[in-house]
Amino acid sequence: MNESVTHDTVEHAMQPEDTPALRELYDGFEKHHLIPLWTQLGDLMPIHPKPRAVPHLWKWSDLLPLAEKSGELVPVGRGGERRAIGLANPGLGGHAYVSPTLWAAIQYLGPRETAPEHRHSQNAFRFVVEGEGVWTVVNGDPVRMSRGDLLLTPGWYFHGHHNDTDQPMAWIDGLDIPFSQQNDVGFFEFGSDRVTDYATPRFSQGERLWCHPGLRPLSGLQDTVSSPIGAYRWEYTDRALTEQLLLEEEGQPATVEQGHAAIRYVNPTTGGDVMPTIRCEFHRLRAGCATPTRREVGSTVFQVFEGSGAVVMDGVEHRLDIGDMFVIPSWISWSLQAETQFDLFRFSDAPIMERLNFARTHVEVPDR
Ligand SMILES: [Fe+2]
Repeated sequence: MNESVTHDTVEHAMQPEDTPALRELYDGFEKHHLIPLWTQLGDLMPIHPKPRAVPHLWKWSDLLPLAEKSGELVPVGRGGERRAIGLANPGLGGHAYVSPTLWAAIQYLGPRETAPEHRHSQNAFRFVVEGEGVWTVVNGDPVRMSRGDLLLTPGWYFHGHHNDTDQPMAWIDGLDIPFSQQNDVGFFEFGSDRVTDYATPRFSQGERLWCHPGLRPLSGLQDTVSSPIGAYRWEYTDRALTEQLLLEEEGQPATVEQGHAAIRYVNPTTGGDVMPTIRCEFHRLRAGCATPTRREVGSTVFQVFEGSGAVVMDGVEHRLDIGDMFVIPSWISWSLQAETQFDLFRFSDAPIMERLNFARTHVEVPDR
């Protein structure tokens, strides 16, 4: 019955009369660092999330040349640590935050370069949209980075990268830096100036122990907060999505929605998300498929991996090509449209929102 009553009208209705005594009261608040709720309610408790972050698209055709230019001009090494360029949401006041919780960056490593080892509380992953030849060494375990792979560096694991080839390589990094910065929870420690192991094995120790479908090593029966798998290979992701669409054609309930296959990368010890603060998924749409319009609490970033299409965010359509990255802030409506078969990598802060019981989703029912 009161649905039409907004904070504006409520605030307006209850504002006290402007008198000298009231001004004196407000001066007293200011002097003692106090702010009354009744002048702030609309900002502090909006009817629904009103993010300062805005929907935004970064074109790969802009990102990659700038990363390449950084490769020419900016050395990588101790101190700066990484040649990583953060995506700064235009709504977040010049911080390198893609959203209030998430960091997303393009990282670039030149031929034969090494990014030194360090560790931090912040959880990190890499996703490779193109290229190969870099190994990331995570707690002493060298992990090959190749196209379509998701690589994990959970919080407080030592990690460095080295390029074993004469070609540069770029990839994207995702971290929970804004979340940890805003909550003052981060620690950082330098490690080896070189990586601790320059071996270039095809499969990491973590994969050799854990990556056999449906099989858990008895040496690993203790659940771990983050996944023990350092690399989720494209070969398996692609196969899983291909099978979902084939099963759908056979009339089996295998896809999220008609024409929309998707997988979530999981921690095999728990079946839950790969890391405590970040969810990673991969989505594949059949050509011509459009997803229903959704709103979700929390923020999401996508990167186009293959194909072309569009995203509609807050009613505005953006054309998408390979490598393009876009952020969908909390409660902003969005829908994907596939021109060709369309592959997208996705990460979000959903584990935080779900753990703290803030998660909500609204899916619009299309008009018939
Ligand atoms: Fe790092």
